Amino acid sequence: MDIDQLHEIALKMVAPGKGILAADESTGTIAKRFKSIGLDNTEEHRRDWREMLFRTEPAMSEHISGVILFDETIRQKAKDGTPLVELIKASGSVPGIKVDSGAKDLAGSPGEKITEGLDGLRGRLEEYYRLGARFAKWRAVINIGGQGDDLVPSPYCIDTNVHALARYAALCQEANIVPIVEPEVIMDGDHDIERCYEVTEFTLKRLYQELFEQGIVLEGTILKPNMIVSGTDCPDQASREEVAELTVQCLKNTVPAAVPGIAFLSGGQSDEDATAHLNIMNAAYDLPWPLTFSYGRALQAAPLQAWNGKDVEAGQKAFNHRARMNGLAALGEWSE
Ligand code: 13P
Repeated sequence: MDIDQLHEIALKMVAPGKGILAADESTGTIAKRFKSIGLDNTEEHRRDWREMLFRTEPAMSEHISGVILFDETIRQKAKDGTPLVELIKASGSVPGIKVDSGAKDLAGSPGEKITEGLDGLRGRLEEYYRLGARFAKWRAVINIGGQGDDLVPSPYCIDTNVHALARYAALCQEANIVPIVEPEVIMDGDHDIERCYEVTEFTLKRLYQELFEQGIVLEGTILKPNMIVSGTDCPDQASREEVAELTVQCLKNTVPAAVPGIAFLSGGQSDEDATAHLNIMNAAYDLPWPLTFSYGRALQAAPLQAWNGKDVEAGQKAFNHRARMNGLAALGEWSE
């Protein structure tokens, strides 16, 4: 393990005014995204869509520090034969790879998930390093819901998920790949923002205890958390200022200052909310780590509609705009 290299890559991933493009949708997930524009989910269409994004300037060189890829994409070539990984590197951005194989039902615990993908991971990481990946992502899914004795999440769900995250992180660091650790507390549900705070705080506390117990060097990691928000169906939706305040408070109470940076997921927030929340946190608070974005939907939804399967210019224009707005928010310099 080369700690200096891991630390250097981690810092590059959270460089000022830049953030991460999460373009690692599995083939099933991107089918849902393409369906919204009536596009068939073929390998060629997936290639065209991602090639369009990775060729977008100045978004890529000015605002995107790293790109999370899916297994198919890290092996794919652009229309002219250039590997997509080379397009990303040419822009100065770091290629990364999603290495989990998805969240599956947690045995004995209805309504809860456990993320799979540890078997054979050491070998896959070696191959991904050869293919150009310098960081990886593993997403744990923590649902909020249930009642009484069936309250979700259970400590069992959180423990099994953070254990898997730490095992993944250890294997990544052994392979000189920076692990993004992503424990996503899901927005779905009618719970209030306090419940999101409580579950996220507990999850992050357990996560950092487990990373410590499994010997992870925090300087060579990035955290990808959810923000503290009201459940999607909660009648009482917290203001943007409350979201920013509680998110900062929760992170300060749980995330060691040795972590080089925090890159949020958007998790189904609207594009504008995801940008505004990040901006308030950076503009109004004194923070021990850089806070930036690692957005999937909040960076891609508008470009996807504009591209609509064919219009590269419109797609790139929309991606330039979203990348610039989030780049400004990462500096606390965005305004509506
Ligand atoms: P969203 O920003 O769409 O939540 O996606 C980020 C991601 O990579 C989730 O794992």
